[in-house]
Amino acid sequence: MKPNLKIADSMLDLIGGIPLVRLNRVGQESGAEILVKPEFLNPSGSIKDRIAKRMVEEAEAQGDLRENYRIIEATGGNTGTALAFVSAVRGYDFVAYVPDKIADPSRVAIMLAYGCEVVTVDTDAYEAARTGESPADSDTGAHGGYLELGGRQLCLDAEREQPDVWYARQYSSPANVAAHREETAKEILEKTDGALDAFVASVGTGGTLFGIAQALKEHDPDISVWGVEPAGKPMVGDPGAYPLIPDISDGIIPDILESGLIDGVFTVNDEEAIGMAHRLAEREGIFCGMSGGANVEASLRLAGTLGSGKRIVTVLPDSRDRYLQFEKYTT
Ligand SMILES: Cc1ncc(COP(=O)(O)O)c(C=O)c1O
Repeated sequence: MKPNLKIADSMLDLIGGIPLVRLNRVGQESGAEILVKPEFLNPSGSIKDRIAKRMVEEAEAQGDLRENYRIIEATGGNTGTALAFVSAVRGYDFVAYVPDKIADPSRVAIMLAYGCEVVTVDTDAYEAARTGESPADSDTGAHGGYLELGGRQLCLDAEREQPDVWYARQYSSPANVAAHREETAKEILEKTDGALDAFVASVGTGGTLFGIAQALKEHDPDISVWGVEPAGKPMVGDPGAYPLIPDISDGIIPDILESGLIDGVFTVNDEEAIGMAHRLAEREGIFCGMSGGANVEASLRLAGTLGSGKRIVTVLPDSRDRYLQFEKYTT
């Protein structure tokens, strides 16, 4: 958000400009100062408003997205909500390809409310076709990077077969990383006067972690940067298992793995992420989603290893309103 803004030209001007909040009652025993960035305060309720706006604006500027085009994207939820919101403001039709496993009714209802179309993707059928085996455990696939693979293939097909379509491709979009490097990280550095010891963020596409890591390490290479992933299927935390499929999973995660910018990865399970999200609501009045809970859980674990007196910054990517019927740590 622009400082001192009185009348916004559109809702897009209200994206960003979000301060940090100190935790007062959760994690006191850690001796660290934990600062959270409530990114659910963005207009459609998540950090993804930043990348949706930037991806659309850059595609318009490059002539890839034009009037009367349809936007398509494979998304577990927040990028869908954010692109639905930005499409409503800019006048585009938008189709979200949402994995059935995390097509939570509240999340889909939010997307539909912005006037977009939702196509549900059969995640197990795609995974079985890709690997030749039926997925063993439906609980292990909560990582957006895995869940979205089937939808990404459908988007590729639609892009090839249909006219006037722009496929956003958040998983490999330079605009995704740039939004966090140039905007989210800038806010963190401004609001801390550049004084922080560590940054922690959950990985879906990896855009948040990679963009912010680039800016923080450039500011001060001693700031450590940590990823957080659902325990079932880490990607950055288990590079050997990462399925590198051209046009489907190349892009930001492989770039992160090659960059050497990340100091480590925490894995957090559903129970820990959900438990922390509940504690944040009950003890801090912070109504964040489960990946925000996972980020704070990982920040407290990190605090235990860094020693007292350190300042750790993390993000709360979305609001708990989209998990009211189905609580799960998804990225
Ligand atoms: C709830 C939630 N948390 C965290 C993330 C991770 O963000 P990123 O895609 O920037 O890695 C996402 C998106 O993928 C998300 O939807």
